Amino acid sequence: MSLVILDFGSQYTRLITRRFRELGAYSVILPGNASLERIQRENPVGIVLSGGPSSVYDAGAPRPADGVLDLDVPVLGICYGMQYLAQHAGGRVERAGKREYGKAELGEYGGALFEGISGEFVAWMSHSDSVTDLPPGYEVVATTTDTPVTAIEHRERRRYGVQFHPEVVHTPKGGQLLANFLDLCGAARDWTPQHIVDELTQGVRDQVGEEGRVLLGISGGVDSSTLALLLARAIGDRLTAVFIDHGLLRLGEREQVEHALRPLGVNLVTVDASDVFLEHLAGVSDPETKRKIIGREFIRAFEREARTHGPFEFLAQGTLYPDVIESAGGEGAANIKSHHNVGGLPEDLGFKLVEPFRTLFKDEVREIAQLLGLPDEIRTRHPFPGPGLAIRILGDVTREKLDVLRRVDDIFISGLREFGLYDQTWQALAVLTPIQSVGVMGDERTYRHLVALRAVSSIDGMTAEWTRLPYEFLDTVSLRIVNHVHEVSRVVYDITGKPPATIEWE
Ligand code: XMP
Repeated sequence: MSLVILDFGSQYTRLITRRFRELGAYSVILPGNASLERIQRENPVGIVLSGGPSSVYDAGAPRPADGVLDLDVPVLGICYGMQYLAQHAGGRVERAGKREYGKAELGEYGGALFEGISGEFVAWMSHSDSVTDLPPGYEVVATTTDTPVTAIEHRERRRYGVQFHPEVVHTPKGGQLLANFLDLCGAARDWTPQHIVDELTQGVRDQVGEEGRVLLGISGGVDSSTLALLLARAIGDRLTAVFIDHGLLRLGEREQVEHALRPLGVNLVTVDASDVFLEHLAGVSDPETKRKIIGREFIRAFEREARTHGPFEFLAQGTLYPDVIESAGGEGAANIKSHHNVGGLPEDLGFKLVEPFRTLFKDEVREIAQLLGLPDEIRTRHPFPGPGLAIRILGDVTREKLDVLRRVDDIFISGLREFGLYDQTWQALAVLTPIQSVGVMGDERTYRHLVALRAVSSIDGMTAEWTRLPYEFLDTVSLRIVNHVHEVSRVVYDITGKPPATIEWE
């Protein structure tokens, strides 16, 4: 049973799902034109029509499939969704005299959606069309100065529409309104982490059966580690989790993963493949070539382990919901970022995929991780790129350089933790440059490496701002680095945003 959100292309559609899930109700996003059968497969208890950039009177404006609005479940139309609902039921929608964008305060409001809400109601508006004639049986339940028809309802048919966006934070009481809609749908409010874990565990058992064996690639990040814990809970040692140490990891990283997962029952195989990786990387300076070599060797190493410990019928992956949301482009257009957890495994390995996190958002995975006992140091860890330190060493990669960078990185990252800055930073890293610079230590002139430190704040890594780390902190780590890592004579801090720079230096 779920809430079905039909996506007509609003930038806020995902937020609707987030809000429902925060309220404890499970919801899914489907393309606006999803077929009736597709929608019925979700056992909908209510339907939301999202906003979108179109006008309902445009030729080819997106609309729900025939029969969807005849389903006997409550329907909430938001913005474009409300306009469609009104037009479909015989009302009229027109280009508004005045485009309304930003915050607006509702005048009088009432009706089922606003049940229990009182006082000032600030709503986030973003529309240029408005409902001008109500369809039969509907009444206006909220207005603003510029938009006489701001919210409508048809009480018996349980059809509701709001011109504003209740799902965004700029509508502070929007959460209460969405909670009221859930009540009108009689939606279960049991989407809690424990419930999710129980359901996913059962799902894995059902899929894998009594005998099936599952292979999982572990990256050391939160998704694959949490998946390992979930699978171990579901099928015990019929899971083999493989962690390939390509020699490009940070200090103590392999041990950290071992200590986190083995005591919690994960059948973990760690492989030191660093010789092979470093051999293939020897003398290679070009960033893209490094990435390609690492990707290729990763697959080879993983396949070797699959053969050694197999046979396996299933391959598990930590694919998340944002990777699989069916796009507004139509059914089957699912944008699946395949195999990203195991570094691009080819399709022809012949495994069946186990992807228990396909319905979850990243923060839901973190909640599950906590419930399953994943230690904080992994649960709250910064992102780390698959090619590891190789793309933080400008120029060719050698064991010696890796050793230098590892020690610098460790001083920086443990300093961030010590100063309470780690959790406020989205990602932090150190870069070893091929630049040598002159220094003086004791009475001696030195000529050694320049290292750069970088810390950024970001939401998703697509854009980033450099973090304004306190000078005292930068001063402390700079001193520690130069004092403890003798190969380094100078430390600089990167103050470039993304764009124009990327987060990594290569
Ligand atoms: P950039 O440098 O592109 O990085 O601004 C954005 C985020 O992606 C990570 N990153 C990678 N992750 N393989 C990965 O798994 C890669 O080749 C790779 N390159 C960058 C980077 O650490 C940051 O979090």
